[in-house]
Amino acid sequence: MKTRNRWTAALAVISLALGVGAASAQTIRIGVVNTLSGPNASLGENIDKAIKLYVKQNEKRLPPGVKIELLMRDDGGANPDKAKQLAQELIVRDKVQLLTGLIWTPNAAAVAPLATEAKMPTVIMNAGTSNITTLSPYLARVSFTLWQSSYPAGRWAAKKYKRAYIAVTDYGPGIDSENAFEKAFTEGGGQIVGKVRMPLANPDYVPFMQRARDAKPDVLFSFVPAGPSATQIMKAYGDLGMSKAGIRFIGPGDLTPDDELQNMGEVPLGIQTVHHYSAAATRDANKAFIAAWKKEYGAKSVPSFMSVGGWDGMDAIFHVIREQKGKLDPDQTMLLLRGYKNPNSPRGPISIDPRTRDIVQDEYLREVRRVGGELANVEIETIARQVKDPWKEFNTK
Ligand code: DHB
Repeated sequence: MKTRNRWTAALAVISLALGVGAASAQTIRIGVVNTLSGPNASLGENIDKAIKLYVKQNEKRLPPGVKIELLMRDDGGANPDKAKQLAQELIVRDKVQLLTGLIWTPNAAAVAPLATEAKMPTVIMNAGTSNITTLSPYLARVSFTLWQSSYPAGRWAAKKYKRAYIAVTDYGPGIDSENAFEKAFTEGGGQIVGKVRMPLANPDYVPFMQRARDAKPDVLFSFVPAGPSATQIMKAYGDLGMSKAGIRFIGPGDLTPDDELQNMGEVPLGIQTVHHYSAAATRDANKAFIAAWKKEYGAKSVPSFMSVGGWDGMDAIFHVIREQKGKLDPDQTMLLLRGYKNPNSPRGPISIDPRTRDIVQDEYLREVRRVGGELANVEIETIARQVKDPWKEFNTK
């Protein structure tokens, strides 16, 4: 052996022994900006549990030698300055290769310029205002938009009701939900008899609901963030006797979150909503998801649509890691996210629209019924198939 070759061979042995080089163990750091404290901590807990369960079940499907490290950070709620600071630290100090989480629209919007600047692929697990994905080419959304649920809801409602009142939380997703419902409902021949926007922080829903009651609509359409806000507005609807006054209550699925139903008493029984996921769905993939969830977190624990955002978000992340064999390039990651598909998500078939980097999915009409002693969002009908974000379809062609 020539001296040079001998040296090369010796170096190769040393590299192997030290575990460096092509076959070395690699750790991919993923920053998760989530809500783990404050009044909406239950929302973040749903995502956190889903992420951890997904990783536990699927770690073995990572390429050989590739590991992931999750850096969990708490934004405390809709708090764009905090979210931006956390994302900055994750990018600059912790050197993450991917960002994810992001329940709140203002937080996702605040992180978008950082994603662009740092070429940081960011997988949005919840925030649902349509325009978010237009704020940076490094964002992809696996959750939903409010237009996706509220536009089909308006079309469906126009066939059943003549006069609607709209009450929404006064920020991105609420305004989208209002606009989407109003457009579809009026296109379908319905009339909007009144509208109100309610504050995001510490709302008392009673005065707003009283105004809705006084307008005597056939139906009240409402978006409030899932979690305790949904329970509070449901309580106001019950306390004001609106059901007995003949006013039906409808909305996107944020109004009757699967995990909040047990906190709502009897009031939501019979309420119909439109959404992309229900924990009560009988698809095989959902039955497997629910069984794994209950095994891990207990028979009483119920995942929500946010959990499924976390679950599918991790599936998309694992896809880009596998396809690149653990060596992530930001532009290649975005290309792979644009082509992501899963025919068997717990919510049904999903894909990312390569044009908009936004989720494409089915929308279900659901009704709250008692199933096995507990309230559940029972899927009655698939009312829109493979829906692309309608706002982008109307506005950015
Ligand atoms: C958003 C927050 C929610 O809690 C929800 O149910 C839907 C959307 C958001 O801020 O985008």
